[in-house]
Amino acid sequence: MSYLLEMQGISKDFSGIKALDNVFFNVKPAEVVSLCGENGSGKSTLMKVLTGVHPAGSYAGEITFNGKSLSAQSIKDSEAVGIAIIHQELALVKELSIMENIFLGSEIHSYGRINFNAMLQKTRELLKQVFLDVPPTTLVKHLGVGQQQLVEIAKALSKNASLLILDEPSSSLTESETKILLNIVCSLRERGVSCVYISHKLDEIMAISDRVCVIRDGLHIATKEIAELNQDRIIQMMVGREMANLFPREDHPIGDVVLEVRNCTAHDPWVQDIKRVDDVSFTVREGEILGISGLVGAGRTELMQCLFGCYPGSYDIEILLDNKPIKVRNSAEALRQRVAMVPEDRKRHGIIPGMSVAKNLSLANLLNYQQKMDCIDSSHEVADVLEYIKKLRVKTASPDLQIKSLSGGNQQKVVLAKNLLIGPKVLILDEPTRGVDVGAKYEIYKVMFELIREGISIIMVSSELPEVLGISDRVLVMHEGKLKGNFVNQDLTQEMIMESALGSCSDA
Ligand SMILES: Nc1ncnc2c1ncn2[C@@H]1O[C@H](COP(=O)(O)OP(=O)(O)OP(=O)(O)O)[C@@H](O)[C@H]1O
Ligand SMILES: [Mg+2]
Repeated sequence: MSYLLEMQGISKDFSGIKALDNVFFNVKPAEVVSLCGENGSGKSTLMKVLTGVHPAGSYAGEITFNGKSLSAQSIKDSEAVGIAIIHQELALVKELSIMENIFLGSEIHSYGRINFNAMLQKTRELLKQVFLDVPPTTLVKHLGVGQQQLVEIAKALSKNASLLILDEPSSSLTESETKILLNIVCSLRERGVSCVYISHKLDEIMAISDRVCVIRDGLHIATKEIAELNQDRIIQMMVGREMANLFPREDHPIGDVVLEVRNCTAHDPWVQDIKRVDDVSFTVREGEILGISGLVGAGRTELMQCLFGCYPGSYDIEILLDNKPIKVRNSAEALRQRVAMVPEDRKRHGIIPGMSVAKNLSLANLLNYQQKMDCIDSSHEVADVLEYIKKLRVKTASPDLQIKSLSGGNQQKVVLAKNLLIGPKVLILDEPTRGVDVGAKYEIYKVMFELIREGISIIMVSSELPEVLGISDRVLVMHEGKLKGNFVNQDLTQEMIMESALGSCSDA
């Protein structure tokens, strides 16, 4: 059998800690191979070794691509042989346009000058392929995370690679955007392009893979044909045990209304006439998990930002906490009222990448460690940090490591822990399990249920319908800034939510 890619006996360590231990991985021509494993198991590291992000010499093992030995020193070397990668963390330049981002470093030239017309034309074609209907000159900072992900995909397509690596491409996409993505992968395969697909969403993996490779703690566990697998079997290989129930929901008491939002309207920060949120009112009760569903662009995140005082445009909102009107002009005021938020865009709003895990974790709670003379009570701080690292099972060699060196899912747990430390009354979670593996998702859900049993109220924005249905007590559905559905989660189906998300009004 001739392989397009063969990686043999790959080992890689970071300051003595083994991230990959003798891993074997191969891909045939025109094949989709999924790479599965828990957070921190080494998936992204394996792909970084392949693409030269970790240069040859910094790892052990052999890589052969297209019959030739490959020892990439940088991503340019791997691109030159026909490998393109879409990294897990988006890497677009926010201040540049879509077109400039797509052609950054590989601009089209004619007669010694950049040919903007050709680039515009090519960008239009690429955007059409990913079904993104925005002008190529739109600045990336004006796009939502899902749309940015589609631009990353368009950029990778522009490289005409023979192997495309997608590292968790769908974690910020909605169902319909994900369908587009899966179609793109399938049509690439038909054109002879191979893909490595990394995802924690097992339904996607079952839908598009030819083979699945599972790694656990840096070790190669197995590579199997899709026909030999089902979701349970993949989970079992990933976590090393069986997991029967993915949603640990239990009956729990729900109390009085804690938070009431009245008449929230938010205008687009750049185009004042467009309403991102249009006269939305809702309540949350003590010990309740309120799910908020809808398509990307429905205004869910904007609504939460108004509530948390961090919406970038102009808005009106009335908030009542325990029946008393409160003013939340910024996020510090929200935290003081014990309203906390885990944001959707972790890299931009959730973490300070160059700071340690410990400092990120205690950041929102520093006032509580304040001693006389404005000194920080560091023993109290360290004790809290260690407690929460243990409680949420954050996988880090030390609390002093920079948070950016943690795997995506583990970074997410730190952001959650940071918000739990302030002892919230209302906790807003915007896509809380994005990029989180099944085992860690289960742990996060368990923490959520512990919190509501303590009387905390949770508002959870989620694009994953099984999660919304598996966790929420009640579900609000938004469409184009308006509230279109308010359902008690009993006999509720994905179809009912989707119908409202597409615009028809319903109440239950
Ligand atoms: N630059 C780095 N410095 C130190 N440790 C690192 C670095 N990059 C990765 N690691 C460690 O290597 C291990 C594997 O990380 P990797 O990012 O490959 O995991 P992953 O399987 O992609 O996880 P996820 O599903 O969360 O994205 C983790 O323990 C991580 O903390
Ligand atoms: Mg990763």
